[in-house]
Amino acid sequence: AAPAQCPFRGTRVGGALGSKPQTDDWWPNRLQVELLHTQSSQANPLRDFNYQEAFEKIDFEQLKSDIKALLTDSKDWWPADYGNYGPQMVRMAWHAAGTYRIADGRGGAGQGMQRFAPLNSWWDNGNTDKSRRLLWPIKQQYGAALSWADLMALTGNCALEIMGFKTFGFGGGRIDAWEADRSTYWGSEFWNGQSLEESGERGKQHAGHPDQMVTREIRWVGKPDEEHYDLENPLAASHQALIYVDPEGPNGEGDPAASARDIRETFARMGMNDEETVALIAGGHAFGKSHGMVEPDKIGPAPEAAPLQAMGLGWQNPKGTGFAQYTMTNGIEGSWTPDPTQWDNSYLENLFKYDWEKTESPAGSIQWQPSSPDAPKTPDAHQPNVEHSLMMMTSDLALKVDPAYHEICQRFVGDFDDFSDAFARAWYKLMHRDMGPKARYLGPEVAKEDLPWQDPIPALDHDVVGDADIDALKHKILESGLSVSALVSAAWASASTYRDTDKRGGANGARVGLDPQKDWEMNRPQELGEVLSALEQIQSDFNGAQSGSKKISMADLIVLGGCAAVEKAAQDAGVSVSVPFTPGRMDTTQEMTDVESFNWLKPVSDGFRNYHNDAIGFKVKPERIFLDRAHLLTLTAPEWTALVGGLRALDQNWDHSKHGVFTDRPGVLTNDFFRVLTSMDYEWKPADDRERLFEICDRKSGETKFTATSCDLIFGSNAELRQVAEVYGADDGHERMVKDFVAAWDKVMMLDRFDVHA
Ligand code: HEM
Repeated sequence: AAPAQCPFRGTRVGGALGSKPQTDDWWPNRLQVELLHTQSSQANPLRDFNYQEAFEKIDFEQLKSDIKALLTDSKDWWPADYGNYGPQMVRMAWHAAGTYRIADGRGGAGQGMQRFAPLNSWWDNGNTDKSRRLLWPIKQQYGAALSWADLMALTGNCALEIMGFKTFGFGGGRIDAWEADRSTYWGSEFWNGQSLEESGERGKQHAGHPDQMVTREIRWVGKPDEEHYDLENPLAASHQALIYVDPEGPNGEGDPAASARDIRETFARMGMNDEETVALIAGGHAFGKSHGMVEPDKIGPAPEAAPLQAMGLGWQNPKGTGFAQYTMTNGIEGSWTPDPTQWDNSYLENLFKYDWEKTESPAGSIQWQPSSPDAPKTPDAHQPNVEHSLMMMTSDLALKVDPAYHEICQRFVGDFDDFSDAFARAWYKLMHRDMGPKARYLGPEVAKEDLPWQDPIPALDHDVVGDADIDALKHKILESGLSVSALVSAAWASASTYRDTDKRGGANGARVGLDPQKDWEMNRPQELGEVLSALEQIQSDFNGAQSGSKKISMADLIVLGGCAAVEKAAQDAGVSVSVPFTPGRMDTTQEMTDVESFNWLKPVSDGFRNYHNDAIGFKVKPERIFLDRAHLLTLTAPEWTALVGGLRALDQNWDHSKHGVFTDRPGVLTNDFFRVLTSMDYEWKPADDRERLFEICDRKSGETKFTATSCDLIFGSNAELRQVAEVYGADDGHERMVKDFVAAWDKVMMLDRFDVHA
């Protein structure tokens, strides 16, 4: 007889930790509140490590020369094209940074996310696994003092420098993530060439091994408020499916004009204008080559799907040695210039000097070669005495056929210094775009110049207020006749633009009083104007009365007004608290504020203030967008819940509607929101056919007591949020809720204070 086996040993039952199916498989539409708790410090082996301090101690010159030496030290397991790893490292760094999207600030080089799925396995990132592995000796040598994120960006700079290019500067300070990013929506790409939704407006291309994520899509979307904003999905609209365009043009059809349209759209989503776009593409493709020696379907699976023995590397190539002259990356084959490891202007010169005719790579991709036999040749990257025709991609020809790009190219062809400066600045922006204020950059090569995309704020230039001043100012504010609701609204409007993804927004700078923020409808513009002018009066009285250099900025005063109002509201509810206030913010100017770029911070939907711009037409539910906003503010589920309950009690709806204001004492910091939300005395009925608005009726009398939105009800409907709501709605929950509200409030007010916390 077979020996008895314990059924729980796993051998029979199967199913270890994480085995499918899981909650998400059974109920794919539940709100994934746990996404607020990813990237926890528990995953981080360096959680007690002070990166800034360690990085600053590195001998930066030595580090750069170590990297530069490695770049020309070709290894047999992946021999360098032209004996120089520079070009492939430039591409690695560009792909690390090029995931950035200005709509929500996600993506970018800042956390080294190229190390993890899905990015590590994107077809577009083919063979960047080799680039990172080549860098391991440097990473190993410098250890924790040099993050992968900084190393990848810095290697891009070093590569450009050894190839004769003068970079604009470098700032370190990128702190690595330690797990795959599950919170970024990358578009509806699917494995095996399937796409979630079919849409006539999208271009697609499938290529390569079935285990690779290979669908390429371009979604035609515009900026918020524009008419052609993607009507089906605001998150998709603000999150791009693809960073790069198809090099063969939309649908792989080899149409340069159509390619230009795609390029303009995707680079705009990266926050790049036409000039920056041309400079980046023409600058990048001055170096290196494309690799297309093998049909894509012969290439092995991407890293995330590769066998164990591949040890994290993917795209195994069965042809020849599998590398050097056999290399297969994207599918197009050849180099753009005669000297691919030297910074020069030959990319643009040849692009315009010659006519280009369509041809095909050995892998079967569409590409272009000069039609003139007199055009210069380019050497083979590995075999001596072998030469090839120059190559252009359809996306390169886009720069020639598009009238606006054409004009910029003409300027650059005629003025190499101008082009070099434009590429240097655009590359610096590309690499640092998601790092936030310049104060966060580390190391000796940070560029001195303030750049508009850094959202500059002047450095603190005065003494700050002390405790006695703060008390006096709070009294003045509360005596001014401004309501609790108005003061809280102004402070919240000021601080809550912050997004941790690219560290933009926040209360510092007092941009809430400038274009465009001062007129955003969810900021209650008229009331905001009244608050600001009352505070300006208080500011000028206070500053005028000082004899030394002590001052209070408007940015500080707006926050202080909110703090004073919250204290009063808590006191009125019978809980005495002091709301922390840390002075030191500065006011910035309209000239230092790029209005167009700030418009991206305007929420299209904001559950904190029950704002939802229906004109846009959404498919994603408001509560999901609300979760997204909570994530941008780095809130935990309890912080999010406490804040919403408090803001509802404090009457914060953008239009002064009473949705979710479940209290007869608005403006007082009660826990009434939670008591009503968890009570069985009421029943909840949809008030519209989209289940966006609800009526809350007394079960006995049938009378409608309150109204609510889905962003209110989610805190009673979602199991995890409800558990937190119960804590705050319990008989011992009021004081806890007030304390948690105050702590979360302070956290939001302080999110952008990089001058205080590192
Ligand atoms: C290589 C496409 C923009 C830098 C490549 C390759 C493709 C490509 C298909 C060949 C990959 C391979 O098979 O090895 C595009 C498209 C772009 C774009 C469609 C945008 C329209 C840029 C930008 C940069 C850049 C902005 C940098 C600023 C490079 C470099 C290489 C390269 C240096 C050579 C890599 C090597 O030699 O291994 N690009 N690229 N590209 N790209 Fe781009």
